[in-house]
Amino acid sequence: LSRLAQKTADAFQQRYGRPATVIAAAPGRVNLIGEHTDYNDGLVLPIAIERATVIAAAPAAAATAARVWCESLGVEVNVSLGPDSHVGQHGAGAYIGGVLGVYAAEGSPAPPLDAVVDSDVPLGAGLSSSAALEVAIALAIEALRGEELDARTRALRCQKAEHIGAGVPCGVMDQFSSAMCREGHALLLDCRTLEPSHVPLADPGVSVLVIDSGVKHSLADGEYAERRRSCEQAAERLGVGSLRDADVAAVESSLDGTLRPRARHVVTEIERVARAADDARHCRWESFGEAMGQSHRSLRDDYQVSCEELDAIVAAAEQIGILGGVYGSRMTGGGFGGSTVTLVRSDSALEVANRIVADIQRRFGHTPEWFVTRPAAGAQRLTLG
Ligand code: GLA
Repeated sequence: LSRLAQKTADAFQQRYGRPATVIAAAPGRVNLIGEHTDYNDGLVLPIAIERATVIAAAPAAAATAARVWCESLGVEVNVSLGPDSHVGQHGAGAYIGGVLGVYAAEGSPAPPLDAVVDSDVPLGAGLSSSAALEVAIALAIEALRGEELDARTRALRCQKAEHIGAGVPCGVMDQFSSAMCREGHALLLDCRTLEPSHVPLADPGVSVLVIDSGVKHSLADGEYAERRRSCEQAAERLGVGSLRDADVAAVESSLDGTLRPRARHVVTEIERVARAADDARHCRWESFGEAMGQSHRSLRDDYQVSCEELDAIVAAAEQIGILGGVYGSRMTGGGFGGSTVTLVRSDSALEVANRIVADIQRRFGHTPEWFVTRPAAGAQRLTLG
């Protein structure tokens, strides 16, 4: 991280001919378990990954807008500073404009600014590169304004930015993960109360292996919003405010058509998160891994948000099994592509990754990217040493 921060600061100096006054970083996330539960008032259990978006920024006295050079994309984004900053923007500009717009609408507009953004969070891999960008921008706005909001307010503003900027009706998980996670801990977030609880994940014997299927997911293509609507309809039919308050028996007896499997996923997944968080607290990794497998099957069969490549990675991991060092594996994030998360014995991580990658290479003819990560810290301002 410090290398990326230094590189971003140097790029700022070179581009604008003066030093940045603010450096901040916000990580991507990988969700260990609890998928498509956040917008149902449920539970999620993500960790921040050791991949982040860094912003270097400074006020621009003579300007009236925000000028952001996106180093990894090679594009400059120019955004106005009012509540409509996101209008007419696309790509990174939509997220940046979304955050600037929400801060303006909430009465804390950013001053005119220059910035450079760089990132090593893989794009479109289901690892919340967009939340990392949003939270980094938010930290920079606050620092330039000389204020510091609490992480929850910041995360909620960034969620709103994603809604208005990118048009994705996402839940709270991604922005809360990036804003709130703690190093060495998973974040057990109750998405109803927004109460975080930090679950230690410090056992050096287990590691988190992330494999990018290479299939680009696009949450904006309507499937995500469609799932969300199904859940709302199911809750309405069951006479509850959200699926958090439904139980499996009611789902089985009172719902039919696609609403039944959709709701069954959500209700059983929320239970799995509660159990898995408890497993993590007691280092019961085999039991945790079983819950991951159940989660994957539920997402594949009931919620129908997986895809062939994700299923193949999970199947390859499960075939290696506990004797080969795999506790459990599942798709992670919104689905339809993106990444898998596999809980592995640390001493087997490299071999497990190589075996899965070789398997996928044989089957699909491309080599997936992968990395092993420890639970990283959430967003923070940085000072360069
Ligand atoms: C995306 C959304 C999150 C969450 C996940 C699925 O990442 O941004 O809010 O709904 O999908 O768990």
